[in-house]
Amino acid sequence: MVTRALLDWYGSNARPLAWRRMPDQPVPEDADWPYRVWLAEIMLQQTTTEAVTPYYTGFLARWPSFTALAAADDADVMQAWAGLGYYARARNLLACARAVVAEHGGELPYGEAALRRLPGIGAYTAAAITAFAHGNRAIIIDGNIERVITRLAAIETPLPAARAEIAAALEPLTPDGLEAADWAQGLMDLARRICTPKAPRCGQCPLENACKTSRNQPETYQKKLKKRIKPMRSGSVWWLQVGDEVLTVRRPPRGLLGGMRGLPDAEPPLDGAWQVLGQISHGFTHFTLNLSVHGLQRAEKPVVSGEWVRLVDLDDAGFPTLFQKAITLARAQFAPEAP
Ligand code: ADE
Repeated sequence: MVTRALLDWYGSNARPLAWRRMPDQPVPEDADWPYRVWLAEIMLQQTTTEAVTPYYTGFLARWPSFTALAAADDADVMQAWAGLGYYARARNLLACARAVVAEHGGELPYGEAALRRLPGIGAYTAAAITAFAHGNRAIIIDGNIERVITRLAAIETPLPAARAEIAAALEPLTPDGLEAADWAQGLMDLARRICTPKAPRCGQCPLENACKTSRNQPETYQKKLKKRIKPMRSGSVWWLQVGDEVLTVRRPPRGLLGGMRGLPDAEPPLDGAWQVLGQISHGFTHFTLNLSVHGLQRAEKPVVSGEWVRLVDLDDAGFPTLFQKAITLARAQFAPEAP
């Protein structure tokens, strides 16, 4: 009853999304369909559909298959990912594409266990690929589905311990074959439109009658462990400008924002009368980073390692948001003309 009610609702309310097979369509037959599902689901981790859509279409236009992506330059992929956040995903994306080509003949393997052996593919993504790309039954659980099921079944246990109960509640509700994909994406759409974190619209919900909390404070049923207060870290970045160019660096492959383009940090690239231009702050998952932005203009290029980028090219140069904030500040604070 719950399953049919949701599938019916999804049948007439599915959001058309760039990566989505709509509920009245069969699984696309072209060989790159699993690639598109995988790409979308990696991008959608911790990121909204609105933010993902332009990146997804941009990536597909440039790298339409595992073979194309596996042959890409690391720096090009990191640059194309810039602004989407959680950059380990981009590094794993490349590693996964290369493993699919090297070890699986360019096609994603079948089955959640085999999928999970690939870089960047965890429980959620393996289940999503199994259902969305391969049309087989899988139990798909993401944060939004967790919220819906926690309310539907009035699960009191806080996360993450509640996951086993959520999976147990989903097991008998999940339909077979391709409908498992529609069921999961229907729950995601329901979570977005109706079973929202705050002020859920229970009166419009196709599952209202079956829901154990629709009349009993559904908002209180999305038990998360209390958020820890994030620790603060601080540091510096160095804006070295010569004429209309600025010194940039490629960050080391491991560590924070590994492999991404950045401004020099840690040490100043050369001695001089550096000015403090201001402070920026950026939230990462586990800490907040406060950076002092220091600036220096020189008439001639010193011999330093890094790459000079013209001011007009900075916005397209592939900086992650942290450095983009520093750039915006430096540009506003620091006369853009050469001295
Ligand atoms: N979030 C993650 N995967 C999604 C999908 N396939 N459709 C809608 N939202 C999603």
